[in-house]
Amino acid sequence: MRHLMSPLDFTVEELDQLLDLANDIEKNPNKYSHACDGKKLATLFYEPSTRTRLSFEAAMMNLGGNVLGFSSASSSSASKGESVSDTIKMISCYADICAMRHPKEGAPLVASTKSSIPVINAGDGGHQHPTQTITDLLTIRSLKGRLSNLTIGLCGDLKFGRTVHSLINALVRYENITFVLISPEELKIPDYIREDVLIQNNVTFKEVERLEEVMPELDLLYMTRVQRERFFNEEDYVRLKDRYILDMKKMSYAKEDMLVLHPLPRVNEISVEVDNDPRAAYFKQVQYGVYARMALILILLEIQVSEH
Ligand code: NCD
Repeated sequence: MRHLMSPLDFTVEELDQLLDLANDIEKNPNKYSHACDGKKLATLFYEPSTRTRLSFEAAMMNLGGNVLGFSSASSSSASKGESVSDTIKMISCYADICAMRHPKEGAPLVASTKSSIPVINAGDGGHQHPTQTITDLLTIRSLKGRLSNLTIGLCGDLKFGRTVHSLINALVRYENITFVLISPEELKIPDYIREDVLIQNNVTFKEVERLEEVMPELDLLYMTRVQRERFFNEEDYVRLKDRYILDMKKMSYAKEDMLVLHPLPRVNEISVEVDNDPRAAYFKQVQYGVYARMALILILLEIQVSEH
């Protein structure tokens, strides 16, 4: 049985197959509409989420399956003091697969060691968010036609943003990727990403504070929200939250085919005027997220859909 804790749990070849499957689902949704008949997905969300949880639920429903679960720690037995280990043993009796989001880093991993069903990490603290990464890879590959030879700007909260950590981990495995890391001093990527992932893999990268000056170089700009819930004090959050606002003026410095991605939710970091620019791909990314999760569910449940 397989779980998904980090994007590196899949080899590059396995990820390619997953993305191929997601593209086939996009083209032929009817072919998959009964693939999970009679199966259940549990969504165990100990931390708020709209997109990821509903995306998982929509994915399972599109496959003909059912969903059950909870959407906050306060509405689950966690509020009575139940451990993640006990919860997952119990859920294993109710469902065939589960997606878990938790504010504590490593909680889904602990759950996976006690589980008799596949566990998907749907975001653990500031650590990893592998299904967002699969979504991002699918979006990039589908819209750009490749996952190699790209200069990628990552902008905003690179310290606490788990989507960025997972995406860097995944992208260093492709050819000729250059990262431009754009953040205030206080929100730079953690040392373990800089040392153990970027430097270790000989990846070209630079760290800058100003977005304007690097715009013309980028093939892709991945914007992120400043992660209020991970700050230790409100003052720091308020000081940093509006440091980057992508607007049409900044977009005018960008390549004509640069893509703008954002895992969402957006707060102020992308001005709504950018939404109408053809380069804005963050709502398409949401749709790709459903196909990516459908493909992932099929692979972890080892369900193959034949042509007829
Ligand atoms: C992200 C997350 O939860 O880490 N959102 C998401 O899953 N779509 C990004 C964020 O919350 O800023």
